[in-house]
Amino acid sequence: MSDVVYPNHLGIIMDGNGRWAKEKGLNRSVGHKAGADNLVNLLDYIYKNTSIKVVSLYAFSTENFKRDKEEVSYLMKLFVTLFNTKLESIKKNNVKVVFSGRRENLPKAVLGSMDKTTEDTKDNTKGILNICLNYGGDYEIVDMTKKIAKQVLEGSLKIEDITKEVVNKNLYQDLPPLDFVIRTSGEKRISNFMIYQSSYTEYDFPDTYFPDFDSKCLEESLDNYRKRDRRFGNAK
Ligand code: IPE
Ligand code: IPE
Ligand code: MG
Repeated sequence: MSDVVYPNHLGIIMDGNGRWAKEKGLNRSVGHKAGADNLVNLLDYIYKNTSIKVVSLYAFSTENFKRDKEEVSYLMKLFVTLFNTKLESIKKNNVKVVFSGRRENLPKAVLGSMDKTTEDTKDNTKGILNICLNYGGDYEIVDMTKKIAKQVLEGSLKIEDITKEVVNKNLYQDLPPLDFVIRTSGEKRISNFMIYQSSYTEYDFPDTYFPDFDSKCLEESLDNYRKRDRRFGNAK
């Protein structure tokens, strides 16, 4: 493993659950369930077989509240099951779970399972799993700006002391930049995912729907990442 290059921070935009189900003549909720089951296997694979340190998952965007009430409430219940039981192996694997997003509009049961997961894993040191839930990259920047403005008004921060590090510390989570983002299902857009953290991110847009995106598909994407020439503005 040691001589293989892995991204330090991997993002996954888990897309295509609905289309996966539709193609099988099934309800969208079956697709979400299959996506959640696949996620558990994929995370197990990542933390056991790669040196990826941080994984950010796009689980639910602020815009996803526009969906039918039934679909939103199914997803919220699925999150509770996922955090309370299905992430058990992640917790045992010494991975620290953190959440990014706004708490408002989330049901109490979801907030409770998020808080318990955060508390249960806060001392874990092997890796970080950042779950973006009720998350919007634009709102993250708005909320960061408000936090910084408050500190300036209260006198604990001087305007001239605002640096990139200060900005990063006031985001939902203080994480390293995203090296690589995979969006499944063939859609080639970012849909408001971690826009501040992706200034030099490499992207891969495999056609596979998320429920079918297994460790073999992940390795193919990682191979694509290894072929990229990351320059960060340098001349080569
Ligand atoms: C991703 O799958 C899951 C969430 C956005 C919560 P979709 O539900 O967006 O699936 P498609 O894009 O309709 O196929
Ligand atoms: C992005 O997928 C959000 C998640 C995967 C959680 P969407 O399916 O909501 O994005 P759009 O609407 O196709 O851009
Ligand atoms: Mg979608």
